[in-house]
Amino acid sequence: MKVDVLLGLQWGDEGKGKIVDVLAPQYDVVARFQGGPNAGHTLEFDGIKHVLHQIPSGIFRPQALNVIGNGVVLDPIVFRAEIEKLMKYNLKVQDNLFISKKATIIVPTHRLLDAAYEKAKGENKIGSTLKGIGPSYQDKIGRQGLRVGDVLSSNFFEKFERLSAIHFEILKRYDIEYNWPELEAQFLEAISFLKQFKLVDSEYLLNNELKQGHRILAEGAQGSLLDIDFGSYPFVTSSSTVSAGACTGLGVAPRHIGEVYGIFKAYSTRVGSGPFPTELLNEEGERMRKEGNEFGSTTGRPRRCGWIDLPALKYSIMINGVTQLLMMKADVLSIFPVIKICTHYELRDGSRTDTVPYEYVNETITPVYKEVKGWNCSLKGLGEKELPKELNGYIALLERELGIPISLISTGPDRKETILRSK
Ligand code: GDP
Ligand code: IMO
Ligand code: MG
Repeated sequence: MKVDVLLGLQWGDEGKGKIVDVLAPQYDVVARFQGGPNAGHTLEFDGIKHVLHQIPSGIFRPQALNVIGNGVVLDPIVFRAEIEKLMKYNLKVQDNLFISKKATIIVPTHRLLDAAYEKAKGENKIGSTLKGIGPSYQDKIGRQGLRVGDVLSSNFFEKFERLSAIHFEILKRYDIEYNWPELEAQFLEAISFLKQFKLVDSEYLLNNELKQGHRILAEGAQGSLLDIDFGSYPFVTSSSTVSAGACTGLGVAPRHIGEVYGIFKAYSTRVGSGPFPTELLNEEGERMRKEGNEFGSTTGRPRRCGWIDLPALKYSIMINGVTQLLMMKADVLSIFPVIKICTHYELRDGSRTDTVPYEYVNETITPVYKEVKGWNCSLKGLGEKELPKELNGYIALLERELGIPISLISTGPDRKETILRSK
């Protein structure tokens, strides 16, 4: 059997959590392969709204094993808080959650460093979630990070002290205040808590699952346009958010990858700094934010909003090898009598392109729009056959432009507000 990958094609918050939860009953395993507590994946069902940060979004489906893969950076303090929030649902978390021994640990000084680096950047700040993502991946790549498996060794505290000492030296150069005894105590308590869970060689677990003919869903975090290589660098996150990241972040070979589900909003949003060609800095943008409830699931920050961007989507589809598209939040566009679709960018020299140029980050590029009539009616409770013709027209136009079928339309945050399209 295969590993299907579900990932965001835009700047994150496309609705990955909702769809992983919807698809999870078809899978034996749900696995996160990158990112960490910067993610906020929202699930809604039976009147419950729950936001997950590090725990895979299959956790509410009792038959699914949930794996935090080696490519993830795990904050034990956030992990503990997440598990405690899940207690009230009586899930068998200790039985069906597995954490890779090779996942990198976020220590408290990573969060302090994140804050220090952002502050020092001033106006050029990335707009990081300040969860310690950049500094922890820096230590991983710099070959001095702590890993989950280290918590089982007798000299873990020594290793932790050694890494913290390196960070204290750097922090001296910045104006950051902190109460170390408190942070350290909280961290060590969270490490004891983490030890109660199944810390495993997850690459073996996953490959054994495949050998047994079981299906795995790899859950991406962030979005392709925030990828460390292909995103709008430096305004990106520090991991490989694209489908290739599922291989390195889980230890599964490329030949085991099956479907690549590319998930996107019917419009665009972005949190934090960086280029956003179709951003609406006007009243229309405000209305989109309000209607879509576009406020960060992790930080509560207002999300920047704008029209759909086809050159950017085409780029993400190419890098990821997307096989199916899933369109989210169609209901939010119901308020607009006219909908704009960015088909090309106009560059400074007046030329047009439907590719994403390197200069994207430093130069102003002007979106070229096509306008279509909106559906302007509620989609509540509608099935596939009842969708307004303007919405079907919007879907057909996107399929034509993007060259990949749209197999799912989401019309609301609840599990049930999901339309699987017949082929
Ligand atoms: P993720 O990070 O990709 O999992 O997405 P987030 O959970 O950060 O953000 C998506 C937000 O949109 C959440 O608040 C979801 O509950 C909500 N949502 C998901 N699908 C839909 C939809 O089709 N319509 C509406 N109105 N909201 C949706
Ligand atoms: P999910 O998984 C949206 C953004 C931050 C910032 C940049 C770098 O919920 O889609 P970082 O904390 O990683 O150093 O921040 O990336 N960012 C996200 N934006 N959704 C996310 O995750 C994000 N995770 C990080 O806002 O611009
Ligand atoms: Mg999110």
